[in-house]
Amino acid sequence: MERTLVLVKPDGIQRGLVGEIMTRFERKGLKLLALKMTQLSDELLDKWYEHHKDKDFFVELKNFMKWTPVVAMVWEGQRGVEVVRRIVGVTKGFEAESGSIRGDFGLSGSQNIVHASDSVEAATKEIGLLFEDDEIFYTYESAIECLIYGNQERAKKED
Ligand code: CMP
Repeated sequence: MERTLVLVKPDGIQRGLVGEIMTRFERKGLKLLALKMTQLSDELLDKWYEHHKDKDFFVELKNFMKWTPVVAMVWEGQRGVEVVRRIVGVTKGFEAESGSIRGDFGLSGSQNIVHASDSVEAATKEIGLLFEDDEIFYTYESAIECLIYGNQERAKKED
C-alpha cells in the first residue's frame, strides 16, 4: 500500500470544499491515516516548493498558500499516489477532466483547490514535513478493507 499527502489549499477552504474533497477519497476506498488543520510557514513553504523557487510565480504561490490555514491529510491505498492524483485531476482547472476535483470545481492554473503528492518519494518528504510520526495512525483496523480489496491484495500490502 502507498501513502500520499493531500492538502486542501486556501481556496478550497474558503469555498467550503473540505467535506466534498474528503468524500471523494473515502468513497474510492482509501484509508485516512492522518488529518489536521495547520498554518503553513515561509520556512516550510520554501522546502515544500523548493523545485519552484526560481519560477516567477514563487512569491505569489507562497502568499496564496499562507492566506488561510490548510487541511492536511495522509491517505493510504493500493497505488495510492497515482489513484489520488487521478481523483484530483491535472494541475490547471481549465484542463482537468470533469469528474476530477479540479475538473469539477476549478478554472484556474494557480488556485487549484488541492495538492496531492506526485510520487512516492515526494509523499514521504511531504508527510515528514507536516506530520510527526505519532500523528499518523498507521495500523488501525479498517472494517471495509475486505470489501475494497481481494485476499491476495490484502496479503501483499506493500503493492
Ligand atoms: P501544485 O501542482 O499542487 O503545486 C505547484 C503549484 O504551483 C500548483 O499546484 C499551482 O498552485 C501553482 N502554480 C503552478 N503554475 C502556476 C503559475 N503559472 N502561476 C501561479 N501559480 C502556479
